[in-house]
Amino acid sequence: MQLPYIAALCLTCASMASAFCVTPEMVETIAPKSKECPQNMLPECRTAAEAAPYITRAFHRYGIYSPNAMASVMSLMALESGEFQYKRNAFPGRPGQGTANMQMAEFNLKYAKSIEKLEPHVANVTTVDGQPDAELNRILDLVVADDYNFGSGAWFLRSQCGEGVLSALNQDVDTGFAAHMDCVGVEAGNEERQAYLTLAKQAFDL
Ligand SMILES: *[C@@H]1O[C@H](CO)[C@@H](O)[C@H](O)[C@H]1NC(C)=O
Repeated sequence: MQLPYIAALCLTCASMASAFCVTPEMVETIAPKSKECPQNMLPECRTAAEAAPYITRAFHRYGIYSPNAMASVMSLMALESGEFQYKRNAFPGRPGQGTANMQMAEFNLKYAKSIEKLEPHVANVTTVDGQPDAELNRILDLVVADDYNFGSGAWFLRSQCGEGVLSALNQDVDTGFAAHMDCVGVEAGNEERQAYLTLAKQAFDL
């Protein structure tokens, strides 16, 4: 594993010596709308200031320290969450789909099972196939809590994409991003995705 990349220190990281910290300014660079939350987007919306510490913790929790990898995850989250205004899929409103990286119900179940505190609440669910919408949304409700909502992007990269994609990201941000998006199942060349990647590169000085 790569050593933590020290580019910035902030208050939330003061206790973690030499730990990399995602600052509110970085979140705002990648998701300019996250400067504030419009009244009509509450209660799901989170500002850059609110989201930054949770994103920082998530990268530490899942051992994502490469700036390329962090930039890739953050660009994905910024696009998928409408710049952190949404936690649940709104268009078309697919039941069970959500969190900052807007992952599908199947992955929200896996993610919930991977978290010690949530596992007892999903121990009785073996698959999302055939579950009613209410059950898919019950599972989603567990993982959209702030402690988990901002961690699923890092979790997905670490646990569902694996070493090949992580090492591609370590080597080169563009080919790594392409491999990451391929793993997620979306088109890396998409203009909007590339625009968010460009902002993320700016935020991480890449
Ligand atoms: C699992 O248990 C919860 C209560 O903890 C319940 O609400 C849910 O419907 C159950 N799901 C299934 C698939 O049995």
